[in-house]
Amino acid sequence: MKGSVLTALGRADGFVSGQELCEELQVSRTAVWKVINQLKEDGYEIESVPRKGYRILQRPDLVTAEEIESRLCTKWAGRPVRYCVEIDSTNNEARRLAETGAPSGTLVVAEEQNQGKGRRGRSWVMSAGSAIAMTLLLRPKIAPTHASMLTLVMGVAVARACRNFCGVETRIKWPNDVVADGRKLCGILTEMSSEIDYINYLVIGAGINTYVRDFPEELAQKAVSLHELTGSRPDRAGLIAECMYQFELCCEEFLRTQDMSGLKDEYNGLLAGIGGRVRVLEPGNEYDGVSEGINERGELLVRRDDGRVEAVYAGEVSVRGIYGYV
Ligand code: BTN
Repeated sequence: MKGSVLTALGRADGFVSGQELCEELQVSRTAVWKVINQLKEDGYEIESVPRKGYRILQRPDLVTAEEIESRLCTKWAGRPVRYCVEIDSTNNEARRLAETGAPSGTLVVAEEQNQGKGRRGRSWVMSAGSAIAMTLLLRPKIAPTHASMLTLVMGVAVARACRNFCGVETRIKWPNDVVADGRKLCGILTEMSSEIDYINYLVIGAGINTYVRDFPEELAQKAVSLHELTGSRPDRAGLIAECMYQFELCCEEFLRTQDMSGLKDEYNGLLAGIGGRVRVLEPGNEYDGVSEGINERGELLVRRDDGRVEAVYAGEVSVRGIYGYV
C-alpha cells in the first residue's frame, strides 16, 4: 500500500487528490490518510492541501522496496525487490533466495553489508547510507561459459545509468570496474551456481559509491563517489531503478544474440585505456601489449609487441594499464 501511494504521488506532476488515491487503490480515505502519516514518519515531506490533495516535497534517501518499486519501469529486472537494513552480503542473500525458488529478476538491496564481498576473495566495505549495494538474481538460459559476459552487461548498464540519471560520464576498466576521473566508482561481482551445461542461477552484485565522505586512506587515491563528481547527493532509489531499466534493455540484447555482438561497440566506446599499453598478468605468464577492445565473447584483445593478438578471458587474469590506475 505504501508503495502504491508513493508510485501515485511520484507519477503526478502536482497534487493527487485523496479521492483519486482512494479510487486507484480501492481503499478508504482513512486508509490513505494513515499511509500518508506513515510516510511522513519515514521522513517524507508531504504537503496536504484541502480540496487539492497531497504532493511530495522531499524524499528521504531510502532504498526500501517501496521506494525503488515506485520508480521502476521494467518488465522483470528488479521485480521483486528484497530490502535488508543490514545483511552479510547482498550476493549471499540473493543466493539464499535463489535456493528457495526466488524468481529471475529478484533484486536484493541493503543499507549496510557486514561481510560485503569483492572479487578474488577481497572484502568490500561500505557504511550505511554511503553507497548502493545491490544484487540481481538471474536464471538465464545460456551456456555457463557465457555467464561472465553478464558482468560486462551490468557494467554497461551502470555506466548508462550514471550518465542518464546523474549526468556523470564513466568508463569501464575491463572487465567490470566502472571508473570516473581515473578512480573506481563501482565494482561488480558475479557468482554462479551451475551444472556443466546448465545455469541454475547467477547473481550479479554491484556496489556503487554514492556519498562517501572519507574513503579509508588506502582507497583515497583509487576510489571516487558520485557526490564528489556532481557536488550533490544522488537519489539512490532512482539510480537503482535506472540501473535496472538499463540492465533489462542490455540483457535482452545480450540474450537475443547470446553474446556481446550487440553491445560490443558501446562497451569499447566506454573502455578505459583502449589503444593504450596494458600489462596482462596470468598465472605464470606476464606480457605487455596494446588494448584493442573486446570481441563478441567479451574477451579483451591485446596486441603483443611481436604482433600476435591474444584474446584474454576474464578469470584468473588481471590487466593493468601501465600508466595510472586504469
Ligand atoms: C570488486 O570490485 O571487487 C567487486 C565488488 C562488488 C561489491 C558488491 S556490493 C553488492 C554486492 N554484494 C557483495 O557482497 N558484493 C557486491
